[in-house]
Amino acid sequence: MSEATTAGPPEGQPLSLWLATAGTTDFPELHGTVEVDVAIIGGGVAGLTAALALKRSGRSVAVLEAGRIGTGVTGHTTGKVTSLHRLAYTELQRNHGASAARTYGLANQAALEYIGGVVAAEGISCGFRRVANYTFTAGPDMLPQVRAEAALAAGLGLPSTFTADVPLPFPVAGAVRFDGQAQIHAVQYLQGVAGKVDGGGSFVFERTRALELREGTPVTVVAANGTVLAGDAIVATNIPFGDHGRFQALCLPHRSYIVAAPVDAPPLDATFISADEPMHSLLTVRLNGVTFLLVGGQGHPAAEQVDPALRYAGLARYARGQFGAGSVAYRWSTQDGLPRDGLPYAGPLNPDSRHAFVITGLRKWGLTNGTAAALMLVDLLNGTPNEWAALFDSNRASSPATMPAAVPEAAGAPATGDTVSREGTARGTPDLGLDDGTVVETDGTSTACYRDTAGQIHAVSAICTHLGCTVGFNRGDRTWDCPCHGSRFDVYGKVVQGPAIEDLPPRPVP
Ligand code: FES
Repeated sequence: MSEATTAGPPEGQPLSLWLATAGTTDFPELHGTVEVDVAIIGGGVAGLTAALALKRSGRSVAVLEAGRIGTGVTGHTTGKVTSLHRLAYTELQRNHGASAARTYGLANQAALEYIGGVVAAEGISCGFRRVANYTFTAGPDMLPQVRAEAALAAGLGLPSTFTADVPLPFPVAGAVRFDGQAQIHAVQYLQGVAGKVDGGGSFVFERTRALELREGTPVTVVAANGTVLAGDAIVATNIPFGDHGRFQALCLPHRSYIVAAPVDAPPLDATFISADEPMHSLLTVRLNGVTFLLVGGQGHPAAEQVDPALRYAGLARYARGQFGAGSVAYRWSTQDGLPRDGLPYAGPLNPDSRHAFVITGLRKWGLTNGTAAALMLVDLLNGTPNEWAALFDSNRASSPATMPAAVPEAAGAPATGDTVSREGTARGTPDLGLDDGTVVETDGTSTACYRDTAGQIHAVSAICTHLGCTVGFNRGDRTWDCPCHGSRFDVYGKVVQGPAIEDLPPRPVP
């Protein structure tokens, strides 16, 4: 694994602090055919947790990661490992009852302890440290809800108290406090786990995008240059494929933004999220002698086109105003599926699947929800009873709750009033500035054109390879984003995030 630095990204380029400081892995691409007990598609926290747990139980596995380990959603996290998910327990009790809320909490609490156990047992150097986690409110309006959440969570058996003593540098009216929570360098964690998975008859393959999943005996997973034959397969790719679109109907792709800026102070022994709107998620971390403050928020449904620059600017303003933070060194966005009924999905990929399984809908709390879902699924594959199984069951009857009311409260609300209608297409040769993109309509064809910083135009089809919607240019992240189900492509057309699995094909420059 190569070293990384804390030098910031090139001016204007988005880059996750975690990816910038984690080094890189160099697992091989899959060539030829391998046979294992379980094929796992996706090298994020859900896939790798399942892989390690299966290997520990004596099963052989092959993990297929389309890019490099941890470069997907997990690499764009805030790094919180916690069972306090803003005001989730109030929401879950309201929609599913107290028993479901308790099971959700205990599953996430168990996931937190499992991660801590893996770090210790496997000797993974990933900055895992215990902190308190707070859901705070600055003013009186949300105080009753915060008090109620603290009491409810304590009653469910979680490490919850209400407190007005919150270690933030600005006035706070009160908070839910969960003790014994944690934060982590998630990419280093995943890289460490991947190193433990690979070997002894198990495999980790990078730059290996799964293109097809054929259920049967064996299950066949097809990639560009190889095939995995397995008894079972797990699809852990954020938004899955091979599910005939059912999880796209059950999970809302939701985008949020994070900035990291240096602060002149040691890191806090706590992480935070506001109950107030606009929501702010806060974490401090020290890397290579610099303390960084991470501020996340400004969330919105991925289908809404917004001005990402304004979103980042709003977070930077908050970091500066509330913490005296310096200039933003890193900024990145992330996108996760918010489950329609507020609960993750883990279980059969399709209603009649016997050997193909899915993990999805991690509601932006993927480090613990993804770990819990993976452990539950491993029990299912091993024939071991698991008390979380019914709650996470991917074949459960959908909740009567409907979007958007049941969108988890981690989502936050659009915050800057910058929502704009999706841009129309231009005609003829694109009139583009440097480092900008637009969709051009010529001869009945929609072409996505990006002009790089050297002035060269890169043209690809603007038709999403998933189900044919037209992509739009995301100026914040320099990606082509699909408004329909959240697929994202880089400026050269390569898939960044599914459900699309095929790149946007090149087109002549109009
Ligand atoms: Fe479904 Fe683009 S993500 S059509």
